[in-house]
Amino acid sequence: MRQITIIAAVGSDLAIGRKGDLAYHISADLKRFKSLTMGHPIIMGRKTFESFPGGALPGRRNIVVTRNARYHAPGIETAPSLEAALSLTDADDDVFIIGGGEIYRQAMPLATRMELTLVDDTMDDADTWFPTYDGSWAVTDSSEPQTCPRTGLTYRFVTLVR
Ligand SMILES: NC(=O)c1ccc[n+]([C@@H]2O[C@H](COP(=O)([O-])OP(=O)(O)OC[C@H]3O[C@@H](n4cnc5c(N)ncnc54)[C@H](OP(=O)(O)O)[C@@H]3O)[C@@H](O)[C@H]2O)c1
Repeated sequence: MRQITIIAAVGSDLAIGRKGDLAYHISADLKRFKSLTMGHPIIMGRKTFESFPGGALPGRRNIVVTRNARYHAPGIETAPSLEAALSLTDADDDVFIIGGGEIYRQAMPLATRMELTLVDDTMDDADTWFPTYDGSWAVTDSSEPQTCPRTGLTYRFVTLVR
């Protein structure tokens, strides 16, 4: 069965975003995001797509969920719902749900796996949060704590499955 994977970098208070941008810019996290998602369809909300400085991410099908039927941008496909976005992908393709808050919330019941970067930090001015997740998720892999050389923030890469 294919994996539907939620991938996110999340603070201790579940913060993921601030002023339309990522809450955390950690170089090793961005590299891991790229290596895990490369070659696979990525599904995102319209606001997350618009936060990318260079537009569509290369090497992956970029599927943007929006209620605006006329929305378009180079290198993307659009879908009117998360379910419609999933149905654009092949039934045996592993897909990644890459945010933001609205889309993670809707994806939670559909996802089979989560790849989370858990950052040991709280943020006063966050405006977007990851949904709370319940005990039906179990950690199957967790890295040693890592330290971001730029910010000094510590974080772990954690894999969860149902
Ligand atoms: N830390 C991380 O890993 C991470 C990852 C991704 C994003 N983020 C951050 O999260 C923030 C953005 O998240 P967000 O929650 O504000 O927005 P979002 O989930 O990226 O996008 C929301 C938009 O998606 C569309 N949408 C949502 N549900 C829909 C539905 N059921 N049917 C059709 N369209 C639907 C709507 O687009 P229209 O308004 O066009 O209809 C809605 O305005 C940014 O700050 C971003 O940097 C963080």
